[in-house]
Amino acid sequence: MRLNLTVNGERRQADGVWEGESLLYVLRERLGLPGSKNACEQGECGSCSVYLDGVLVCSCLVLAGQAEDSEVVTVEGIAEGDKMHPVQETFVETGGVQCGFCTPGLIVATHDLLGRNPRPTDAEIREALAGNLCRCTGYEKILDAVHLAAERMGAA
Ligand code: FES
Ligand code: FES
Repeated sequence: MRLNLTVNGERRQADGVWEGESLLYVLRERLGLPGSKNACEQGECGSCSVYLDGVLVCSCLVLAGQAEDSEVVTVEGIAEGDKMHPVQETFVETGGVQCGFCTPGLIVATHDLLGRNPRPTDAEIREALAGNLCRCTGYEKILDAVHLAAERMGAA
């Protein structure tokens, strides 16, 4: 089938999409956007998180056909042109990125959290990011990154 959707503000089309294919597969393999990661493909790890019509979803659990005519924003679309978004910058600066496999999902989930709650507490951050698993950082540096991003975004 042919899939039409908007990704990171651009109208995109993918041909030959199989009905059982995931949105994650389409983004990575058909549209050349490898930022969203495929770590579990079962909705368990959050590494494939994207916005679908403004709602945070695991793109591995969304059938490609469900995304027809929708608006998708991936980690690539969070950046402001060539400039990293404050959430992206602070993950790098605080050491919240180690192997980096979980990072794209955490960036999108943090962006979503700070859009709803500009100054979250540790507990609120932990709750909001509970669906994003990281095997490297022990999460402390991720908390630091989120707080620092909140500070910078508040100051902007
Ligand atoms: S790859 Fe989608 S939740 Fe893990
Ligand atoms: S940085 Fe390696 S899984 Fe999070």
